[in-house]
Amino acid sequence: MVLNLQNDISLLPYNTFGINVKSKKFIGIKTTEALINVLNQNEEDALLILGGGSNLLLTEDFDGLTIRMENQGIEIIKEDEDWVMVKAAAGENWHDFVLWCLEKNLGGVENLALIPGSVGAAPIQNIGAYGVELKEVFESCEVLNLNTREIKTFSKKECEFGYRNSIFKDKLKGQSVICSVNFKLSKPPHKINTTYRGLSEKLAGRSPNIQNIAQAIIEIRSEKLPNPSVIGNSGSFFKNPVLPSKQWIELQKKYPEIPHYPEQDGKVKIPAAWLIDTLGFKGYRKNDAGVHKNQALVLVNYGEASGLEIKKLAQEIKGKVMEVFAIDLEFEVNIL
Ligand code: EPU
Repeated sequence: MVLNLQNDISLLPYNTFGINVKSKKFIGIKTTEALINVLNQNEEDALLILGGGSNLLLTEDFDGLTIRMENQGIEIIKEDEDWVMVKAAAGENWHDFVLWCLEKNLGGVENLALIPGSVGAAPIQNIGAYGVELKEVFESCEVLNLNTREIKTFSKKECEFGYRNSIFKDKLKGQSVICSVNFKLSKPPHKINTTYRGLSEKLAGRSPNIQNIAQAIIEIRSEKLPNPSVIGNSGSFFKNPVLPSKQWIELQKKYPEIPHYPEQDGKVKIPAAWLIDTLGFKGYRKNDAGVHKNQALVLVNYGEASGLEIKKLAQEIKGKVMEVFAIDLEFEVNIL
């Protein structure tokens, strides 16, 4: 098989932060066979596997092989009276997949409309928004093990999904490539989720269906979150911290107004955006690196920021949050 490998390619078009670094080698792959071939012929190279490049901050040139998953295809593989199993290739754009489901009137992913990235990247951090997480519609995925070159099907349980986490971001980090994902989606009547406050407000007066929910989500996201094709960003840069109950009680004494959401075992999740906003960082800008003006959780590249400038800003915020609130903010974005 002839491989269309390129050398010294800028990764600028392939990351939503709009960072201009180079990869020593680059290839877009359209099939799993091509993926295995590329790996077999480039045994020595360090690997960077890219989906939509929407959860990634590149801080330096990559001295290895970047493989961009570009395999396509969405198909119904099974169905019964209540549900439909859909298989989508990893390289499919996530939002296009959501639109495909809406068109076929298949329910479950409408709250996840407009999330940047690819289908294959979605399970890695168990994408979530507006009251829904990927794991709720996830059935299984096909995964290539980079060490053994074997393909295995991972069930939902085996993926060990957590809040913005999975086995692929944790134990198996850097060891696997998701090639396709199977989703279990509902046929009408759909179970609708309008628990997120802003969502029910947006729908006021209309009886909810999966199409108008997706429309409302698209409106909310467009108001709050910067469009990566206009201003470089990777969505939430930080995870929302989950505090043990003792720490939460102390914090609440000092800041009674802090928004909070109960989690398991008495733990409490609080919005990192509130902490960052309260410190006055919202709308902050240093050269071309900044904090978005409408959502303090999102770091932005106004044009020419380097990955290191963004990383430095993230560390400055992390340090200040630690100093003032004694909370260790975790990065949600992968930094390379
Ligand atoms: N808030 C502020 N300042 C801000 C923004 C928010 O104080 O600038 C406070 C408000 O009190 C608000 C609360 O934070 O009520 C929560 O904000 P929001 O509802 O916007 O959600 P979030 O916790 O900031 C999470 C996800 C988003 C997802 C939204 C909606 C994480 C890390 N982020 O953000 O996911 O879209 O909920 O469900 O869990 C992403 O992962 O890239 C992402 C954008």
